[in-house]
Amino acid sequence: MRIGILTGGGDAPGLNGIIESASRVLLQKGVEVVGIRDGFEGIFENKTIPLTLELVQNAHAESGTLLGSSNRCGTAGREKEFAEKFRALKLDGLIACGGDGTFAGLAKIVEGINLIGVPKTIDNDLAGTEATFGFDTACACVAENVDALRFTAAAHSRIMVVETMGRTAGWIALGGGLASYADVILIPERPFSRAKLLEFVRRKKTSGQRELMIVVSEGATAEGEDPKVMFEVAGSPQKERYGGVAMAVSRWLEKECDWESRHVVLGHLQRARQPTTTDRFLTSFMGVQAAEAALEKAWGQAIVYREGRITRAPITDLMQPARLVAPDHRWVKQAQTLGLFI
Ligand code: F6P
Repeated sequence: MRIGILTGGGDAPGLNGIIESASRVLLQKGVEVVGIRDGFEGIFENKTIPLTLELVQNAHAESGTLLGSSNRCGTAGREKEFAEKFRALKLDGLIACGGDGTFAGLAKIVEGINLIGVPKTIDNDLAGTEATFGFDTACACVAENVDALRFTAAAHSRIMVVETMGRTAGWIALGGGLASYADVILIPERPFSRAKLLEFVRRKKTSGQRELMIVVSEGATAEGEDPKVMFEVAGSPQKERYGGVAMAVSRWLEKECDWESRHVVLGHLQRARQPTTTDRFLTSFMGVQAAEAALEKAWGQAIVYREGRITRAPITDLMQPARLVAPDHRWVKQAQTLGLFI
């Protein structure tokens, strides 16, 4: 048997854990494991490497992906070429580890390909699974940085606005903001009222609080406004790159509330850390299940997390619209109960 492993889209801490755990299982069964380099590019350009035990063992502790990835190479309009090039690799099946871009790209060609899907994104917004690996590590990065920045904010009696990733989903800001008890959490799913936010911040200032911590998701907006797009990436399945909201909120609050303010964009640090234990468990169990599904030739399945367990579901479940934070999600209620602004 010859099985390929591909990592597509933006990297997420834990990708190497999937590569290691799936390869360990397959190699023990005498399967030839082929790593596809740089996501879909590796298929189009025939870039592969043999995955050996020496190469994969202990990769789990590193962020990034030893195979490389790309979020600039879609399949749109090249479906036939993709299917032909994939066939030329003579693989019995492919374990594809990706996010919405990867699975949207595969949705149109899934018919001709023996595929096992593994959902991945720090944004935690993939449909069909209740959690994606990389998310917990991203939240840990946010929480630890908010907690650290609180000291310098308090020293200078400042507002500190921390911008997180997440695109159209507010999971990272919400998870990281809750874990660090940020005073204000702004997410795209709940456009904020400028008037109510000003009232909240002024009240905090009047109460004598020295510092104010705000976590804002890169896609968050005030009511009736559009998200801030910094630039576009040609060829990317999702072209827009968001950014700039923290600076805008920071400058606006300083002026309106007469409270000095600074902003920090955490950016790719959220994808750069060693995976947390939670993410290591997710990837270890998901990788093993993906390999077992491939050995059983259970093609067309995704390895997902539901109701506290790793289980299988039709891969098409991952190809549905993004899973956003419900405006009345229990984490939103938790923030409200704690007296945070959300
Ligand atoms: O989808 C994952 C993600 O990290 C988003 O949160 C972020 O907006 C985007 O990717 C950044 O992409 P790039 O790596 O192309 O800058």
